[in-house]
Amino acid sequence: MQLSDKKATLSFSDGSPSVEFPVYKGTIGPDVVDVRALYGKTGMFTFDPGFKSTASCESAITFINGEEGQLLYRGYPIEQLAHACDFLSVAYLIMNGELPNKQQQHEFDDLVTHHTLVHEQMHIFLRGFRSDAHPMAILTGLVGALSAFYHDSTDITNPRHREISAIRLIAKMPTLVAMAYKHSVGQPFIYPRNDLSYTGNFLRMMFGTPCNDYQVNDVVERALDRIFILHADHEQNASTSTVRLCGSSGTNPFAAIAAGVACLWGPAHGGANEACLNMLEHLQANGGIAKVGEFMEKVKDKDSGVRLMGFGHRVYKNYDPRAKLMQETCREVLDALGLHNDPLFKLAMEVERIALEDRYFVDRKLYPNVDFYSGIVERAIGIPSSLFTAIFALARTAGWIAQWNEMLSDPEYKIGRPRQLYTGAAKRDVK
Ligand code: ACO
Repeated sequence: MQLSDKKATLSFSDGSPSVEFPVYKGTIGPDVVDVRALYGKTGMFTFDPGFKSTASCESAITFINGEEGQLLYRGYPIEQLAHACDFLSVAYLIMNGELPNKQQQHEFDDLVTHHTLVHEQMHIFLRGFRSDAHPMAILTGLVGALSAFYHDSTDITNPRHREISAIRLIAKMPTLVAMAYKHSVGQPFIYPRNDLSYTGNFLRMMFGTPCNDYQVNDVVERALDRIFILHADHEQNASTSTVRLCGSSGTNPFAAIAAGVACLWGPAHGGANEACLNMLEHLQANGGIAKVGEFMEKVKDKDSGVRLMGFGHRVYKNYDPRAKLMQETCREVLDALGLHNDPLFKLAMEVERIALEDRYFVDRKLYPNVDFYSGIVERAIGIPSSLFTAIFALARTAGWIAQWNEMLSDPEYKIGRPRQLYTGAAKRDVK
């Protein structure tokens, strides 16, 4: 980061001396006021519970311009990456800073492919879960358990351990998600195959059975690969910040990523795609397009407690660029699968049309986010809604690893330890 010519001055109404803080510039995006010395100079903390004005770290991985609806991975616009690259080259870019050349891509793909198997005993561990457990509950457990099964790559001070654990995580996440799925439907697990692409392999592990091998459909493979690309990283969102905070204690990467998976599960974050599809299905079952207007009134009524899932974003105050790409993919997949009259897609388009013209949404700058259309695509592919967030976790693993590694490589890295404004009882005695 680069020191700006500007300085920030904080003054107080009670006549205490004002204090100056340095201001740093990024490549693009807002400057930051460096308040690290605030407590030392004034005995005060800053107060920003939802991190609305707080940059928690310096990062060179992803940039979002929320006002313009722009998303860049390592400087490349998401639209270009989604059209020109596959997920593994995007994962390589996010983790290494540059797109791979042909040789690097071949080596990386090969390395990932040869780490997709999981320790056989993990299947025994999996069998301990109830078959009706939520896939995210299983996935959180399985990812955390990787540290028990791959203890030989948990020394974070060893660069080789960090490298191999990163590859293991990227490679094994599709296997773990497919295991969680097969467990929930009572089917035998399908082992990975090395002659398929990353995404093709995942589809086969999901939908193949020992009796009937699965033929990968190109359009479906490309659509799912795009879903992976669009979810690969997204700055300092809740789950990424969780991975950083958890990892800042020096814990191993499997434990830190398991914390990220747990955080992602929440309906305000990665759980929104499942919640969004459930919302659309509920609406369809209760009157469909004819009842959209009534439903939107409920959404606008704060007392109803109903939110329009798949809409709104902390950073995007414009159309989420990923939602646009997802809408494009949605059309492609529905056409390819002969589902162009899909009632949920039509319903989603109608909800979007009404919202984009309604003052409530316009004034609050609420636009569709990536989850609004991804659920329809995944449903068309045959993925149950309970697995949507697990698929998001699979893709976001690339970003989590890159962010965790970036944090550990930062010479100024410290354990994350927020402070607080204490409003509880003052010191008192037990009587
Ligand atoms: N439906 C209805 N009203 C909404 C919605 C929504 N989806 N989102 C925000 N609002 C309203 C709020 O009620 C609030 O109104 P007010 O100013 O009158 O009180 C205003 O818009 C601002 O909303 P906040 O909740 O303060 O915004 P915040 O940045 O904290 O929340 C969030 C962002 C959590 C994503 C929110 O928009 C939301 O709950 N959306 C639905 C869930 C969702 O789709 N999440 C996925 C996010 S993307 C991702 O994780 C991949």
